[in-house]
Amino acid sequence: MTKKTIIAGNWKMNKTNAETKELIQALVPLVKDAKCEVVCCVPFTDIVTARKAARGSNIKIGAQNVHWAEKGAFTGEISAEMLKELKVQYVLTGHSERRQYFGETDETVNLRTKAALNAGLKVIVCVGELLSEREAGKTAEVVTRQTIGALKDISKQELKRVVIAYEPVWAIGTGKTATAQDANDTIKIIRKVVRKLYGRASANSIRIQYGGSMNPKNASELMAMKEIDGGLIGGASLKPEDFAKVVNY
Ligand code: PGA
Repeated sequence: MTKKTIIAGNWKMNKTNAETKELIQALVPLVKDAKCEVVCCVPFTDIVTARKAARGSNIKIGAQNVHWAEKGAFTGEISAEMLKELKVQYVLTGHSERRQYFGETDETVNLRTKAALNAGLKVIVCVGELLSEREAGKTAEVVTRQTIGALKDISKQELKRVVIAYEPVWAIGTGKTATAQDANDTIKIIRKVVRKLYGRASANSIRIQYGGSMNPKNASELMAMKEIDGGLIGGASLKPEDFAKVVNY
């Protein structure tokens, strides 16, 4: 079975509804012949607009986070059912900015991932080491811990709806990309963890993306690596021409 690569944009806290409409409308014709799966993870408030603008196209809409409870007193949070109702297909969990600024832990990342899977959503789970961890030679240890933590109690069947994004934190929004070889090597480690947990077939079929300053210039080199099955794109996903170039790498 050949797996389809997946290029996802992570818009972070960018774009109003009016800007969303404009961006998606510009993107539709540019990515219509894409060979990969194309996803835009937009702010919650842009979901409806993005979906309308993407209707009939090959662009799928994702969210950037989800809470683990079905409902209740969790001010400011959004449930998986709420996302489902808006026909969101993908949701990010464990993005490093969530871990860094909003106190996400391996445990909450796991809870959010499970809730999304339970609701039938697909999940892009992010893992990646800090610069200090890389410099201390702890990259393998960190991504192993994060991967095991994120996938706790997730069945082999559910894993089919999981994509992992390897994003070295020091490469996010900094213009510093991991070398294609480094990214490939770390993704290989993550795949080995998946193999230990779920067996060879699951490890081979799970898609693992690279993320961190991926752009039109470096996309081809990164995507040519054996272990890299896609990209999670921040900055470059905010400009339709740039994102399209990555999609059509
Ligand atoms: P970047 O962000 O492409 O701007 O580095 C990637 C991400 O945070 O997902």
